[in-house]
Amino acid sequence: MTAVDEGFAARLRAGTRDEHERAERSVFVEALLGGALGREAYAGLLAQSYLFYDVLEAAGESWRGDPVIGGFVIDGLLRRDVLALDLDFLLGPGWRDALEPLPATQSYVDRLVEVGSTDRGAFVAHHYTRYLGDLSGGQVVRRRMQEIYGLTDDGVRFYVFDRVTKPKPFRDHYRALLDGAPWRDDERESLVAEANRAFQLNRAVFDDLATVYC
Ligand code: HEM
Repeated sequence: MTAVDEGFAARLRAGTRDEHERAERSVFVEALLGGALGREAYAGLLAQSYLFYDVLEAAGESWRGDPVIGGFVIDGLLRRDVLALDLDFLLGPGWRDALEPLPATQSYVDRLVEVGSTDRGAFVAHHYTRYLGDLSGGQVVRRRMQEIYGLTDDGVRFYVFDRVTKPKPFRDHYRALLDGAPWRDDERESLVAEANRAFQLNRAVFDDLATVYC
């Protein structure tokens, strides 16, 4: 199959592969998945995630009625409220008052505010980077966190998508949405670039988390 015959989802996946590998190999991720960090490090990751999901999902609301992009705004994906449940469980009810963005989280939030509600390709780039990752590698992370910290459901609800079909068929549905959207050529290119930027923003959050917890 040539690159021209490939759907856009495959192109996006191939175009972010290097960044994905870098994110997977970051010091914080390896230490967390290797069981080298305390539970507060995992809670720290979820707390920072709360801050950027809050903004990503607010941006999503502004696309809900859009004939093309509205298709990506799927209620069963929304993570902000399940993150809050996990944080209630892991940190107790005072976590909101203590929540401060790390500098990299602030940069991520700033970028989402800048482009998330105004540029449809950029919104989808950020949406893809988070949710398809949560539905893929996130399932590996959930099992590791359950093993390492002795969790069952509470504390790992972030990784459970019980309001969408099983992760694998859902990922296929999502790829069909990416393939089927009537992107302009320049939009396809800038969407891949923005997805790479989204990976870099995520990696910077891991780097900040490493300075706190590793
Ligand atoms: C924690 C370490 C990680 C592991 C173990 C991991 C693992 C995986 C695996 C196994 C897949 C492939 C699923 C498949 O073949 O369909 C995948 C896909 C994906 N991951 Fe990760 N990942 C990690 C971190 C991340 C991070 C930090 C992000 C971005 C924030 C991310 C975003 C994605 C995306 C967007 C996909 C979908 C690729 C596509 O099919 O288009 N992953 N991940």
